[in-house]
Amino acid sequence: MRVLQFTDLHLRGDPEAETRGVKPQRSFEAVVAHAKAHHSPADAILLTGDLADDEHASYPRLADAMRELDAPLMALPGNHDDPAALRAAFPQASAVLDLGSWRIIGVDSQAAGAVHGEINARQWEMLENAVLKASGRHLLVALHHPPLPLGSEWMDRIGLRDAEAFRQWLTLHGVRACLFGHAHQAWDGEVNGVRYLCAPSTSSQFVAGSATYAISDEAPGYRWLELHDDGRIDTGVERVAR
Ligand SMILES: [Fe+2]
Repeated sequence: MRVLQFTDLHLRGDPEAETRGVKPQRSFEAVVAHAKAHHSPADAILLTGDLADDEHASYPRLADAMRELDAPLMALPGNHDDPAALRAAFPQASAVLDLGSWRIIGVDSQAAGAVHGEINARQWEMLENAVLKASGRHLLVALHHPPLPLGSEWMDRIGLRDAEAFRQWLTLHGVRACLFGHAHQAWDGEVNGVRYLCAPSTSSQFVAGSATYAISDEAPGYRWLELHDDGRIDTGVERVAR
């Protein structure tokens, strides 16, 4: 099963609007064109938050672009998203996707009005239920906020709260991998049997390992994953010229 992760699109209402010298809409279009040419057709698309840069007029345009890719969709909110507007714009998206011998579970980690992430009681309940009904499928969990420190002081302060409890839960349930965004950088590491993966932003990147907020001039990108029937995962990050 081939899965694509696009994250931290930060789309603006006006498709020609620039953020830090980048047009997020055009950057995203270049990323999607690359994915279409090199990793299509996909069996699922995961959007892991900050789809809009607080300008929710961009949602319908994004929803149309996703319909064109014609794959099951997960659209998770990040700290810059409006969950209600997002749900309304993406009726085709779902929080649980079953793909052959895999189940992908999406968690809403947005804490209203905050930059950091949290998993509230309702989301915990959803997670528990989704795992209970997984029928032995291999598990992959996706959310916006990093559930582990990335060695970047400012970013680690705005990651997921109670991340250790969440990581223990993932290990306890034998979750194969956890996908996240928010950090605008590639990450691939393992903690207690769970693989943690982040994708670059489809717009602009943060400097990895920086103690303070810093923008890097690295190219935008996305992550592809090949989920095998036996639970193995092949994955990589593609960078795309704007
Ligand atoms: Fe974010």
